[in-house]
Amino acid sequence: MSVRHDPVLLRETLGFLLGGAGLYLDGTLGDGGHACAVLEAEPLARLLGNDRDHGSLDFARARLERFGDRVTLHHGTFRDLPRAHAAAGGELFAGALFDFGLSSRQIDDPARGISFMHDGPLDQRMDAGSGLPLDQKLAVADEAEVAQALRDYGDVRGAGRLARAIVAAARAGELSTTRALAALVGRVTGDSRPKSLAPVFQALRIWVNDEMRDIDGALAWLPDAMRDGGVVVTLSYHSGEDRRVKHALRGVPRVSASRRLPVMDDEKAEGPWEELTRKVVVPSIEEQDSNPRARSARLRAFRRKPR
Ligand SMILES: C[S@@+](CC[C@H](N)C(=O)[O-])C[C@H]1O[C@@H](n2cnc3c(N)ncnc32)[C@H](O)[C@@H]1O
Repeated sequence: MSVRHDPVLLRETLGFLLGGAGLYLDGTLGDGGHACAVLEAEPLARLLGNDRDHGSLDFARARLERFGDRVTLHHGTFRDLPRAHAAAGGELFAGALFDFGLSSRQIDDPARGISFMHDGPLDQRMDAGSGLPLDQKLAVADEAEVAQALRDYGDVRGAGRLARAIVAAARAGELSTTRALAALVGRVTGDSRPKSLAPVFQALRIWVNDEMRDIDGALAWLPDAMRDGGVVVTLSYHSGEDRRVKHALRGVPRVSASRRLPVMDDEKAEGPWEELTRKVVVPSIEEQDSNPRARSARLRAFRRKPR
């Protein structure tokens, strides 16, 4: 199945990101929608595009072919970016984009087992060549770790009880499909409405892909990778992603000498970033109507201060 992904907050992203000629990073290439628009809008831009999913990379490669040697592609997670960047010459980025999460093509592909809306193998990995599929990872997992993931990444109530049932079913080999997981959640919680299944599927997907650790790694590397004045744009779809972006890029509030309390005035925050989005940017009603998957998006932009 192939449902092309609509780039989210495209006009707003370009408005913050573009800063003239130079090398741009798309850390989450996906279908290449944002990347394509960057290369079209800025004829002197070159792009390093990265994705951990081979399918996305192949799709984007075909779409970006017409830009020739302005584009370099790399397969890997955010943790591989420093190496990919060095291999591409190490030129500091004029702009960097991270559009977290998954593309519509990934979500709507039953073979990936990401959505409870389609029956498929309970895999959920973005990179099928790396790590264990979800059913196998659950079968060897520690219940407490699964419970923590359900709480941290899905705010799931009764996470301990649900984790116990999930791990037991996986060990018994009874959790090999999305339908089996959805049925189990319904049995244990007495609630199989989509709004109750979605957080469980989301939390387990974030856990199996180790998404938060990847995000932390990328955000910690960025200050060294951006040129002075270069802008980082992030698009988050989950409060955990957005919290990490704020924490890593907003700067560490200074501690007041007299009262040993954090100085909350953002102007006094120390760190390499100037925040360009004092108020988070969200999609317009029109965009939300035409692309329901954009609804939870939150855009933040930060400019690298001069060194
Ligand atoms: C929301 S989609 C990006 C869509 C893209 N901006 C477009 O316009 O088509 C997110 C993409 O990031 C990739 N991705 C998510 N987390 C990643 C990570 N930690 N490392 C590398 N790629 C990641 C996913 O495989 C997916 O293709």
